[in-house]
Amino acid sequence: MPMDKSKKEKTGKTQGSNGIIIRKAVLGDMGQIINNWKCLMDLNSKYNPVANRRKANYVEIYRRFLKKQIKGRKSAIFVAVNDGMIIGHLMMEIKRIPPVYEIDEEGFVDELFVQKEFRRLGIGTLLLEQGEKWARRKGMKQFSLHTNVKNAGARRAYAKFGLVEFMLKLIKPL
Ligand SMILES: CC(C)(COP(=O)(O)OP(=O)(O)OC[C@H]1O[C@@H](n2cnc3c(N)ncnc32)[C@H](O)[C@@H]1OP(=O)(O)O)[C@@H](O)C(=O)NCCC(=O)NCCS
Repeated sequence: MPMDKSKKEKTGKTQGSNGIIIRKAVLGDMGQIINNWKCLMDLNSKYNPVANRRKANYVEIYRRFLKKQIKGRKSAIFVAVNDGMIIGHLMMEIKRIPPVYEIDEEGFVDELFVQKEFRRLGIGTLLLEQGEKWARRKGMKQFSLHTNVKNAGARRAYAKFGLVEFMLKLIKPL
């Protein structure tokens, strides 16, 4: 079912016509975000098993990071909620760029994930829109992210959102 344009409610939440709500994450969301993030990690491992090998305590490390990102002033996490369940999230941060450039910081997407059964409903786009608005409110003049070159679906979604491919990361395992 395609999602109509979202409407902003007085509560500050954004609600799609099919009942999916986009709101800022709170600490109580951490368990569900972590479960979704594990799926994202598994996808990344398929693209590059060596570069994406995880430490034994990776979940604990991420839990600490996530808490910091939820509470921080230079970061924000938006969650998509359906029937009380978190079915997707977007993590944003203000990222510094070498100070020689006029644009020396940007709104950077650390993570974007939508559960498989909820894809192609416009939820990823709604999350990106919230991330972009947050970056604008923070005074950012640039919005960016990294994605895997093999992730054709995400690349298509980002292009549709107006993001232009700009850099290519090259790696060589040593
Ligand atoms: C990438 C992702 C977040 C997109 O979320 P989504 O909710 O499905 O995206 P949307 O419904 O807003 O898609 C917007 C547009 O992007 C394009 N698109 C999205 N997924 C696509 C796919 N798999 N193949 C081709 N085009 C795709 C389409 O043009 C789509 O518009 P349409 O459905 O009207 O044709 C989601 O597929 C996902 O979570 N994937 C797994 C995790 C991942 O790869 N995250 C990104 C890491 S950088």
